[in-house]
Amino acid sequence: AARLPKVLQLTLAVIKPDAVAHPVMSQALHQRILDNKFLIVKCRDLAWRRRDSERFYAEHSERFFYQRLVEFMSSGPMRAYVLARVDAIRQWRELMGPTKVFRARYTSPDSIRAQFGLTDTRNTAHGADSVESAQREIRFFFPDFCAGEWMEKEEPSFR
Ligand code: PPS
Repeated sequence: AARLPKVLQLTLAVIKPDAVAHPVMSQALHQRILDNKFLIVKCRDLAWRRRDSERFYAEHSERFFYQRLVEFMSSGPMRAYVLARVDAIRQWRELMGPTKVFRARYTSPDSIRAQFGLTDTRNTAHGADSVESAQREIRFFFPDFCAGEWMEKEEPSFR
């Protein structure tokens, strides 16, 4: 039977302010990305204003933790990556571990959130959870990264 070629997929990964505040931690996470065979396509350090954070997390605006999340994500510098790998979206989420740190420690002790996360808010990392969110989030963090070879050309819906 013919074997299907394995294609690289792009995802958006973020190292959150709790981790970026500690240079040793962000260096360790950078190394962790490389050790897990992700290709780093883009990397940028940035800080959000409150309104960037509100826009990014608009889908959670009715959740009880929205204000806390928005506040935290605009509290200091973070580092965003466009990562490439076969099955990148799922692989990065697996490496991060579950959102809830207590669950991460229980079910995936080797994951990033289990090892570095402090609380459900200060949980060290973010990752896109679908092809659609990866596209939206890559545009959100890397508005210039819309070259035709990589991304479908369409108006970014968020800026
Ligand atoms: S949920 O409950 O399944 O909708 O959670 P999830 O979709 O995984 O989380 C969405 C983002 O909200 C953050 N989050 C929280 N922040 C503060 N307090 C609490 N309790 C909380 N629960 C979830 C979570 O870290 C997710 O942020 P991102 O940046 O997407 O990882």
